[in-house]
Amino acid sequence: MAVKQLVVFTPLDSNLLISPLKSGTFVFKGALFSVLRKLIWTGLFKPPPFQIQAIIPMMFNHRDALEDLNSHLPLKDKLVSAHRVIQQNLDFVARIAVTLFDSQTHVLRTYIDSSGEDNPLNNYQIPLNQARSLKEILEKKRPRVVNNLITFEQGNQEHTKRIGRQGYAASYTMPMFHGGEFIGFLFFNSYQTNVFTEKALRELDVFGHLIALMVISELSTIHVMNAALKTTGKITHLRDPETGSHLDRMSRYSRLIAQSLARQYQLNDEYIEYVFMFSPLHDIGKIAIPDSILLKPGPLSASERKIMNTHARRGREMIDEIVANFSLDGIAHIDILRNIAEFHHEAVNGSGYPCGKINHDIPLEARIVAVADIFDALTSRRPYKEAWSNDRAFDTLRQLAGEKLDVDCVNALIEHRAEIERIQCQFNEDVYG
Ligand SMILES: [Fe+2]
Ligand SMILES: [Fe+2]
Repeated sequence: MAVKQLVVFTPLDSNLLISPLKSGTFVFKGALFSVLRKLIWTGLFKPPPFQIQAIIPMMFNHRDALEDLNSHLPLKDKLVSAHRVIQQNLDFVARIAVTLFDSQTHVLRTYIDSSGEDNPLNNYQIPLNQARSLKEILEKKRPRVVNNLITFEQGNQEHTKRIGRQGYAASYTMPMFHGGEFIGFLFFNSYQTNVFTEKALRELDVFGHLIALMVISELSTIHVMNAALKTTGKITHLRDPETGSHLDRMSRYSRLIAQSLARQYQLNDEYIEYVFMFSPLHDIGKIAIPDSILLKPGPLSASERKIMNTHARRGREMIDEIVANFSLDGIAHIDILRNIAEFHHEAVNGSGYPCGKINHDIPLEARIVAVADIFDALTSRRPYKEAWSNDRAFDTLRQLAGEKLDVDCVNALIEHRAEIERIQCQFNEDVYG
């Protein structure tokens, strides 16, 4: 049948995209729209000779509940946003948290959470072997529901106690995998018991995988950048003696210092994790230094030293280039990396380079890395010196504190002899051996 007339029904607030409206078109709006639509759908009103070609209430006033995920927000903010959406249907979900698994050390550590001030597990880590119930989840490769945390009351593990003390009464724990590799756990906690029903879990599973993908995407981006920077180094045939175990150790010393300063400087787990991930790239600018200077066995002349010192600024420039070329500007905390590369040779008394910044004008991440880097250089064997004992290195750090190095950062490291020794045992490969 040929179209004789076009009838369009639309609510008042809709944006109708029909153009041009043909002559003979009737447009019913507002209340009339709802009444007529109902009558037509129920068959009570048949409007021949019109043919109803379009009932198109095109609306643009719906807000995508997860639209925050489209932007360049830090991962933690995205998690908080996803949590808000989950609470619209499942208001009993009081906390969402992610822990990451370090496949080198087999340690689980807290990473991000949505619980704000009330977080019972800030800066927490535990070897997977000692977290029996979590290990069991991993072995079974299946999530775990605990609908009444009293079940765990007898547990003597610190994280179980802290979660219980905070008043959480139920939990749902999902293991996260990327390409079959275990990367960490995702926790949903509630203050109420028996809330994780089959129906709720079906919804949480979808959100759980969405959050896992967000985490994987963030980690993959950082991985791509680290790989890009390392590959650049290899292509230019860099033979920097500061590789391998030095980077393993100094990045862990950096994390140790950041963890120790967390309360005083209000550092969250995400920041600490970035300091750990980015600190091995502190000397990336040395790629730009000629081998004749970089690998010179003897002391450098004044002009050679000047060229060597440009590695700090060159490092930042290289990072900027790589971020632009690989479209990595989505990494929320990329400034932490820029600051580490550019300012790790600044001194708190202003005698450092490249800017001569003073005290807290030097970004904290650069002050942390400076202490970790120097401590490992002192306690490692070099072609020109033997490895110093920890005590001798501590004495030197104390002398440098307040002059070259930040006092808080030095104390934060020195206070943790047992952890330092553990790191030294685990990453004791001697690159000159
Ligand atoms: Fe350096
Ligand atoms: Fe270094």
